[in-house]
Amino acid sequence: MRVLVLNGPNLGRLGSREPDVYGSTSYADLVASCAKTGAELGLEVEVRQTDQEAELVGWLHEAADTSTPVVLNPAAFTHYSYAVRDACAQLTAPLIEVHLTNPARREAFRHTSVVAGVATGTIAGFGFESYRLALSAVAATHRP
Ligand code: DQA
Repeated sequence: MRVLVLNGPNLGRLGSREPDVYGSTSYADLVASCAKTGAELGLEVEVRQTDQEAELVGWLHEAADTSTPVVLNPAAFTHYSYAVRDACAQLTAPLIEVHLTNPARREAFRHTSVVAGVATGTIAGFGFESYRLALSAVAATHRP
């Protein structure tokens, strides 16, 4: 089964971005971790990152048109992008919202997710392990 792992703005800068918050492992490490998890679970995992809302919306349309499950870290879009939320609402296969950190423990503006209400579920606060758990949830629950 194919799974898209989509990452929003600034996540390409993992490793150098606020290491006290996000750790020192890089985006390339995240891609490798997702690939390893995919191989273990028998999933065909494709990992992408963009800083652009329109590109992310386009990828979500692609997932909607192909009934592909999505693991999504919308990053800052989580908190305000109704365009991303409306694209997520069109998905028919599972959508797992993931976060490296736990936004509920952080600044007040991060406490709102406009995506959560259209996600199958949310996993936050476990670093790369959030993605591993999300991919495991897709493998365990989705029968295409
Ligand atoms: C994040 C949390 C968001 O609040 C933030 O804007 C990010 C990363 C996370 O993975 O913890 O860019 O989605």
